[in-house]
Amino acid sequence: MADRGLIPICESAALTECGEGVRFSLSTEGIEREAFVIRHQGKALGYLNRCAHTGLELDWIPGRFMDSERRWLICAAHGALYEPATGACAGGPCEGRGRLVAVPVWEIDGMVYWRRKAGEPAAAFEEALAGGPSE
Ligand code: FES
Repeated sequence: MADRGLIPICESAALTECGEGVRFSLSTEGIEREAFVIRHQGKALGYLNRCAHTGLELDWIPGRFMDSERRWLICAAHGALYEPATGACAGGPCEGRGRLVAVPVWEIDGMVYWRRKAGEPAAAFEEALAGGPSE
């Protein structure tokens, strides 16, 4: 079902509640970025794999995005915490100023996909993804 511009990431079953995430690359306008998807409160949620602090990837073990309590997304480098539902920083080196950049994902018929929002111009999507580190 990869029509309508939907690009498959993984099967839905690969995402357990606040469990391991699935990394994927998204390529838009010739720019390749690393991203990930997790399941939180039953929903598949996507973010760029880029900490708001210095821009490092969050997971030190591939796919390990949650803290040991499975409450927060955590950057393994310096410990920034992010609210899984919104990507907002909840503590750490960026002191609540930063947030993860959301990647729109869809879950349809047992598969998780990403794509630009319907009708969203490529330039607007690029602009949204380009939000850089807060420092
Ligand atoms: S790079 Fe993520 S907390 Fe410093």
